[in-house]
Amino acid sequence: IDIKTLRSATGGVITIDPGYKNTGSCESAITFLDGEKGILRYRGYSIEELADKADFLEVAYLLIFGELPSQEELDKFHSDIKENSVVDDDVKKILDAFPKSAHPMGVLSSLTAALTAFNPSSVDVESEEDMYNSIVRIMGKFPVLVSWAMRKKHGLPLEYGDDNLGYVENVLRMMFKNPNREYEQNPILIDALDKLLILHADHEQNCSTSTVRITGSSHAGLFVSLASGISALWGPLHGGANQAVLEMLEAIKEDGGDTKKYMAKAKDKEDPFRLMGFGHRVYKNFDPRARIIKKAADEVLGDLGVEDPILDIAKGLEKEALEDQYFVDRKLYPNVDFYSGIIYRAMGIPVEMFTVMFALGRLPGWIAQWREMRLRKEPIGRPRQLYIGENYRPFSPIEKR
Ligand code: ACO
Repeated sequence: IDIKTLRSATGGVITIDPGYKNTGSCESAITFLDGEKGILRYRGYSIEELADKADFLEVAYLLIFGELPSQEELDKFHSDIKENSVVDDDVKKILDAFPKSAHPMGVLSSLTAALTAFNPSSVDVESEEDMYNSIVRIMGKFPVLVSWAMRKKHGLPLEYGDDNLGYVENVLRMMFKNPNREYEQNPILIDALDKLLILHADHEQNCSTSTVRITGSSHAGLFVSLASGISALWGPLHGGANQAVLEMLEAIKEDGGDTKKYMAKAKDKEDPFRLMGFGHRVYKNFDPRARIIKKAADEVLGDLGVEDPILDIAKGLEKEALEDQYFVDRKLYPNVDFYSGIIYRAMGIPVEMFTVMFALGRLPGWIAQWREMRLRKEPIGRPRQLYIGENYRPFSPIEKR
């Protein structure tokens, strides 16, 4: 039965599903996820294998174009990205206008939207070639904006990448190069960031991705669609959870490290406190990304020789939650962001940049979903509602109110 016939057969019946818990918004061939079994695959490849064997740029190519690239395809993709990594100088003036206190997620969302003004051809993308050009432009400029958002906050001069370096190596260099000391590449950090970005690269129709698709469905253009996705990601119930987790762990440490007290708060329905980094809309079993990240956190901290009491608090909370009936009944397990902040912290990334790092990882997923939506010529996203307001009332003049 086609959708038009269905619509007339049901006489305009509307499904109400707050939070779209059981509503599919599209058909997609990008990411498969089985929340009951804890399976996550990009284009058919398991997240475990990709995190172990691929690098971030390969995974980006896979998500966006559907197949793992040959060496030649990957080299071309990388060199097109590098060629498009210069950001118009006037963007620096916009950055300058932000107060130092501005959250880097707000800065990143604004600058990503602003790029449209400097690249107007990125809006009319009728052919696959137009799409490709927009994609390599944003893949090139986005890490620059990410690093600028951080450098502005820390009063460091703005940097560009080094064309001889890999994509992820350049991200770290652009973030950490400091005029007062020699910058040295650290392979442990490069590997750890590569893995984290792969784990965050796509997650089917989550809040920010749905936002990107719905904005893009009005044919608003790639960069502004991404900017709306960045804003959606910012919230603490979504990507902002990684910052919230670390702040929560810090607060528990400051408060004497009593994890039981915070477990009780999380279960108290009168208390708005939630255990950040626990629970997931789709995973009702362990989040497979959390498993990989937990192991990576141990390795990175070990390799860097960092002893972080926050990691012990995190492990303590996890153990208690896994044995607690409230958490067991509701199938609340640690999600991807329970451990990512601990790694970011060990890497020297400031806490307000954690969600920005998530955005950097999610960029190829958002792009892939936007591209799929445009290539499939999906209609404009426009949910309905059930009206529960007043019935007709005659207008009352102001002197009679
Ligand atoms: N701490 C305590 N209780 C929780 C938590 C938590 N972290 N998460 C859910 N619950 C409880 C709810 O109170 C509710 O209990 P009830 O049935 O007694 O009313 C039940 O578990 C179901 O929770 P919902 O909020 O209905 O689940 P939903 O699927 O809407 O929300 C969400 C999922 C937003 C992730 C939620 O678990 C949460 O707020 N977690 C903390 C924030 C977080 O870590 N977000 C990151 C998600 S992953 C990501 O975006 C990368």
